Amino acid sequence: KAQVFSGIQPTGVPHLGNYLGALESWVALQDKYSTVMYSIVDLHSITQPQDPQMLRENILDMAASLLACGIDPTRSILFQQSQVSEHAELSWILGCLTSMPRLRHLPQWKMKSKQKNEGSVGLYTYPVLQAADILLYKYGQLCSSCVLILSRLYSQLCVRERVMLLLCRSTHVPVGEDQIQHLELAQDLARIFNNQYEEFFPEPCALLSGTRKVKSLRDPSSKMSKSDPQKLATVFLTDTPDDIVLKIRRAVTDLTSEVTYEPESRPGVSNLVSMHAAVSGQSVEEVVRLAEGMDTGQYKNVVAEAIVQTLQPIRLEIQRLRADRGHLESLLAKGAEKAHSLAAPVMTEVRKLVGFY
Ligand code: TYM
Repeated sequence: KAQVFSGIQPTGVPHLGNYLGALESWVALQDKYSTVMYSIVDLHSITQPQDPQMLRENILDMAASLLACGIDPTRSILFQQSQVSEHAELSWILGCLTSMPRLRHLPQWKMKSKQKNEGSVGLYTYPVLQAADILLYKYGQLCSSCVLILSRLYSQLCVRERVMLLLCRSTHVPVGEDQIQHLELAQDLARIFNNQYEEFFPEPCALLSGTRKVKSLRDPSSKMSKSDPQKLATVFLTDTPDDIVLKIRRAVTDLTSEVTYEPESRPGVSNLVSMHAAVSGQSVEEVVRLAEGMDTGQYKNVVAEAIVQTLQPIRLEIQRLRADRGHLESLLAKGAEKAHSLAAPVMTEVRKLVGFY
């Protein structure tokens, strides 16, 4: 059986893009897969400077946000990446198999190093750590005796049989469109490791949601982002109804008053249409039909109302969960224990393959 793994950086409250591009499908996948793992990737977050106290708060707030969206710790393993040291260890090994030019054009480095005019080694190798996150859970929730049998059996299979076995164990990774290149690197690194040592890691595959990329409300040519300095560009899950109405009303559109869906020529209004379709569970065509006869000003009120309906219960639940920090800490500690028990046998085998003992 395949398993699900995904991650989110604790760099602030999640926004509507995180929700529609990833978190909504994270919740749905809990019903479809037996091993579902979601990580608050704090190691990734320190590739940008973080205030330690603020980071601690952000990690717990992110846990509260994920639970409020519907992540259920009895059906998913929710954990903090830095608490499972195997992530960093596998990342080092994979980094030794990665060439410098392969990383140079990946989005995180290109965007963030340009903003600061420089960047750290950690920022450069960010996608290698992401590959390690995903590949580390190749067994999912098999019990330890099954893992042992599987790994013994495995050595007796021919290459074709190994590839077949790996194919049906590949990890599914629900992410937004901006992560596709990172996923391709994880696939490449699985292949490179397998060529260098032996067929061991299944190639992961991306699961893209219907809303692949939510755009900034102030600049529809760029994606909605937690770190956008423009206050009105991003709808956060904790925004009040008034905040949401204001941000949607001020969203950049164009001079045509009709509502149409033409992402290339009318990115602003098309962004509103695709957010509206996603939060109301309708198709883009249905939403455009509904907006017939409205101008974009009137339509913005309808979109804002639909977003408020979706986010209001989540906002209230985040507020409730945030108050009990002890409960959040203990949930994350239990999650880390479970994740560690799955990561440990994989790392034992990796160490053997690499020749460490
Ligand atoms: P992060 O924290 O930037 O984003 C978390 C998820 O939200 C999606 N997303 C969006 N989707 C649609 N429209 C947007 N405007 C938008 N902004 C963000 C992202 O695609 C992502 O799925 N590198 C990852 C974290 C990570 C990870 C992993 C993911 C670390 N290890 C292993 C998957 C598997 C990131 O930066 O997420």
